[in-house]
Amino acid sequence: MEPVKFAVLGLNQGAKIVRDALKHEEVELVAVAGFGQQAESFASELGLKRYEDYRLLLRQEQLDAVAIALPNGLHVEAVEEALAANIKHILLEKPIANTVEEAQHIIDICKEAGATLLIGHHRRNSPRYLFLRDLIASGRLGKIIGLQSSFAIAKPYAYFDVEWRIKKGGGPLLINAIHDFDDLNYLTGMKPVRVYAAARNSIRNNEVEDSVSVIVEYEGGATATYFISDGTPGPWSYDLAAEENLNYGFCTEENSLRIFGTEGSFGFPHMDLYYYDKDHYGWNEPLLKEHFDCEINDPMAAELDHFIDLCRGRETVPRCSGEDALDTLRVIKGIQKSAEIKQAVDL
Ligand SMILES: NC(=O)c1ccc[n+]([C@@H]2O[C@H](COP(=O)([O-])OP(=O)(O)OC[C@H]3O[C@@H](n4cnc5c(N)ncnc54)[C@H](O)[C@@H]3O)[C@@H](O)[C@H]2O)c1
Repeated sequence: MEPVKFAVLGLNQGAKIVRDALKHEEVELVAVAGFGQQAESFASELGLKRYEDYRLLLRQEQLDAVAIALPNGLHVEAVEEALAANIKHILLEKPIANTVEEAQHIIDICKEAGATLLIGHHRRNSPRYLFLRDLIASGRLGKIIGLQSSFAIAKPYAYFDVEWRIKKGGGPLLINAIHDFDDLNYLTGMKPVRVYAAARNSIRNNEVEDSVSVIVEYEGGATATYFISDGTPGPWSYDLAAEENLNYGFCTEENSLRIFGTEGSFGFPHMDLYYYDKDHYGWNEPLLKEHFDCEINDPMAAELDHFIDLCRGRETVPRCSGEDALDTLRVIKGIQKSAEIKQAVDL
């Protein structure tokens, strides 16, 4: 069978997709796009055909599939260009777009063109995460009444030298919190209906936030609290706790997410369920703990496997569709709005 002719646009986050693609036996990596010192040395180290302008790549190469790992503000135009080049399978990094309107536009034009669209919320490919999703769906935690999640992390100073990350359209809400809110949507299946948020930029005084507290209300009654900061040394984030992404210095002592149900509560990624025996219920009784051992994988590599399965038609439903990513984006946009107007926002 012919390999899937594939290109990767953007070579920072995209570099990880490139490395995974080179290991995938069904993929032919035709070319990559990126500019600057890092992109140049990465491509020459691996002997890759590189274009400085991704549009030129799309116009000159015959491709079946493309991964778009360009800055958030280029997602819409890159999808338009990819479709104009008749590419039928698109893996688009998160956030799907900077605005709800742009996200809807991406969904609509991919539908019209009959193109597959998979959004890079890669945690949806983690076995521990999927185990937790199944556990919640099984009812073992009872009715979910609350969630506590955090992304408290320190990014290196050089991270902020990249301009788009510190301007509107960047910032930790759109770049990082979007993963955590996708988790809450996907893991619980609950629909968020209202958000309240307070955002600050008091660490760096950039145009975008650096620390935010959020309360979310869900249909059915559950509530969530969430704190994010990208300027505090701490272990309470998925990336440091989950041991999945080798780019991070892991610190696995703490959970990044706690889920509270009427029958039990659960800490992720430690995978411990806390509950009482039916006949010995309540705070005077021994609190029981069950630990679940699950495989730890590389969810980004698994995401590419899934994408190639979609390209081949072996799978037909993207694990994160454009609509799923839009639902998550709506939460982030609501949080931004609430922080701006200092009032609750209905989603
Ligand atoms: N899934 C994840 O966990 C994850 C992690 C990091 C970033 N991301 C997403 O990936 C995307 C890229 O983020 P990043 O941190 O790698 O950004 P970055 O700014 O560090 O890198 C962007 C890359 O795109 C290239 N580029 C920019 N404009 C171009 C153009 N016109 N033509 C060709 N190349 C061009 C740059 O040279 C660079 O290689 C963003 O959407 C981000 O949200 C996802």
